Amino acid sequence: MLRRHFLLSGLALVAPRTSFSANARIDILPDEPIGVISPHIYGHFTEHIGGVIYDGVWVGESSKIPNVGGIRKALIDHLKQIKAPVIRWPGGCFADSYNWRDGVGPRSQRPRRTNFWANDPYLWKAPDGPQKYEPNEFGTNEFARFCKLAGAEPYFAANLRSLEAFDFSEWVEYCNSPAGTTSMAGLRAQGGSPDPFPVRFWGVGNESWGCGGNFTGDEYAVEFRRYTEWVPRYGLNLNFIASGPNVADYAWTRSFFEKLIEKGKGALRHVFGTALHYYCGGPASGSSTQFAPDAWYRLLHDAARMEELVNNHWQIMGEIDTQHHVKLVVDEWGAWHDTDPSIAPSYLFGYYPGLRDALVSGITLDIFNRHADKVAMANDAQLINNINALFVAVEDRFTVTPIFHVFDMYAPHQGGTSVRTVISAPALTQAAAHGLPALSGSCSVQGSHVVLTIVNPDIQNAQETEINVRNRRITSARATVLTSSDIHAHNTLDSPNALEPKEDNSIKAGSPLNYSFAPASVTRLDLMLA
Ligand code: AHR
Repeated sequence: MLRRHFLLSGLALVAPRTSFSANARIDILPDEPIGVISPHIYGHFTEHIGGVIYDGVWVGESSKIPNVGGIRKALIDHLKQIKAPVIRWPGGCFADSYNWRDGVGPRSQRPRRTNFWANDPYLWKAPDGPQKYEPNEFGTNEFARFCKLAGAEPYFAANLRSLEAFDFSEWVEYCNSPAGTTSMAGLRAQGGSPDPFPVRFWGVGNESWGCGGNFTGDEYAVEFRRYTEWVPRYGLNLNFIASGPNVADYAWTRSFFEKLIEKGKGALRHVFGTALHYYCGGPASGSSTQFAPDAWYRLLHDAARMEELVNNHWQIMGEIDTQHHVKLVVDEWGAWHDTDPSIAPSYLFGYYPGLRDALVSGITLDIFNRHADKVAMANDAQLINNINALFVAVEDRFTVTPIFHVFDMYAPHQGGTSVRTVISAPALTQAAAHGLPALSGSCSVQGSHVVLTIVNPDIQNAQETEINVRNRRITSARATVLTSSDIHAHNTLDSPNALEPKEDNSIKAGSPLNYSFAPASVTRLDLMLA
């Protein structure tokens, strides 16, 4: 998308002033499609880490907490509400020390193992619970059931560092071989699932440049070729996802693709996507709920860096994969802050995300929408009780976070056609914002329904904006806004409704549409066109 940044005086050159004193302008160009927004861009990630699986997802069948076969009911209900399309599991770094066989068969007989994260100093303060010593109560059948209940597709991350290619193909056989055909199908049936799940998305390792084996890009390419050369298909179109770069490690992307095609470009046909990981903030970035205005702007500027990462990795991929057969899968993203000491230490990397993180999520999802031709899937890290979480749950208490509200507000983009949208807005002048534009967003169209989502990062100033849809008339308009006068606003277990989106009834349809985007806000406009 082209983005033009104007000083206030410069804007007058392109936007004639009306009685509404617009200092920004949005031009939606419905006849310039970018691509269909894959619903999988709105995906999630659940790892056996901290309170994600044990207590977050899995409470156990005998729990007093409302559950469906051991899975937290409130979570299932909310995932259905936001049309959760896909969930990644079991890691993360955990994936490359996980033997899937530990998590199948009778639950009472499953082994107890040391969790990948047990060495983290923060967990030393925690009791010897499932976060340190994995009980394997939640395994393949439980995860597949969770996905089915939530209406999402499963995306498995296979162990490349410490299991063999054979184990990978046998996991595929366990999940996908038809009822009654193989011993693995028999084992699956003993766990209550005679029919295949089935699983289409398979990650081949995780962060193979680090915890997933400490490979170089070309070493990993050889492993990837070996693991994916033969895998049983059962008529399914299996989508293999290669472990991709860490942030701006362009050398990884280049070396992986160069080595992958060393024996011919046919190897590209084995790759559905390459997985980019990018967390803004990062561990030790400070508290999610107590920070100075500078830290607000710094984080939002960092979040916007996702666009440069998508563009740059895509360009390198295209030098080798000239037809762009392979897509980007951003299977870990989010804002990462310090663990909240008011939450028990076993909930490693748990904290309450706030309004600032909601804006990070809006900025990021808008980038994915704008690059619908490049990004095939993305997975927010992580679903519950961890990092960029949509939910916090401790025993029988549960709250949605502002990130959940953003996913809810953005759900209508799923399956829409992303169209080019020119946002002309001044650049922020705060030093920590590093020229971040005063408005950013994305737009999708389904028939005569237009969904426009916009983030205004300015803490103080609303952005009065003139909105035009080229060659079309806007006949009705609705606005949903997530904002607060307090930039630290967030929900807690004691105060789960502190921050919620509201309908803005002041909006009046018109062509152009004049709308004032509130300070520190994420807004969705639903427009109907004649
Ligand atoms: O999401 C937490 C961790 O961050 C994941 O396990 C790992 O893949 C990443 O480094």
